[in-house]
Amino acid sequence: TSPSSPPEAESLLAAAEAYARAELGGDTSGHDWWHVQRVADMARRLAADEGADPFLCVLAALLHDVADEKLNPSKEAGMAKVASWLEARELADGDREHVLEIIGTMSYNGGANPPMRTLEGRVVQDADRLDAIGAIAVARTFVYAGHVGHPIHDPELPPRDSLVLTSEEYRRGKSTAINHFHEKLLKLKDRLNTPAAKSIAEQRHAFMRSYLEQFQQEWDGER
Ligand code: ADP
Ligand code: NI
Repeated sequence: TSPSSPPEAESLLAAAEAYARAELGGDTSGHDWWHVQRVADMARRLAADEGADPFLCVLAALLHDVADEKLNPSKEAGMAKVASWLEARELADGDREHVLEIIGTMSYNGGANPPMRTLEGRVVQDADRLDAIGAIAVARTFVYAGHVGHPIHDPELPPRDSLVLTSEEYRRGKSTAINHFHEKLLKLKDRLNTPAAKSIAEQRHAFMRSYLEQFQQEWDGER
């Protein structure tokens, strides 16, 4: 169970916040501290709507990208880093494992991962996915593409509607920012877990579609 007294829980969340901020503050791949803050705020909001434990949801949200394989030598190294941070904190064992399970299994992974086991996991995964849909997601996607050296768009590369490359292949291989919308971002709306997140996604998804439509019209000289 979670620390029941709010002061304990709040000070642990403040420590997690400082840790994530220090780890991710300088990131320019779209996984910066402000992404984490948005996911944590959204996790709190979804937790309230869905009746999930807000402490666990916010804690997992704050730590979720500290362990990201894109920002660490490997996924295992990232998970070990977060595990040892949690070990040094006053936290019930069950909670420690639960948070590690959430951040270890919430990644999109080409849509191949099994559903999250717990309500808290579903909430945190939705909060992260919502930050990949909408206006901010457009910005993150172009920043990430630049970060890994992908072009904006390549009309000779047919849009793929399924993810066929591993993330390592992406780093080296051929994709584009626009392609990423087709291979992943436009699919996220239908892969959300909670009714609260699905409802928030509608308008963000529509915005992305209209962005892509305008992009194509400008590209084709129609606007
Ligand atoms: P997850 O945490 O669900 O595994 P990622 O960390 O891979 O997701 O992606 C988070 C965000 O980073 C995406 O929503 C997107 O904005 C950006 N991103 C990830 N991979 C790519 C890519 N190949 N091209 C462009 N943007 C990407
Ligand atoms: Ni994230």
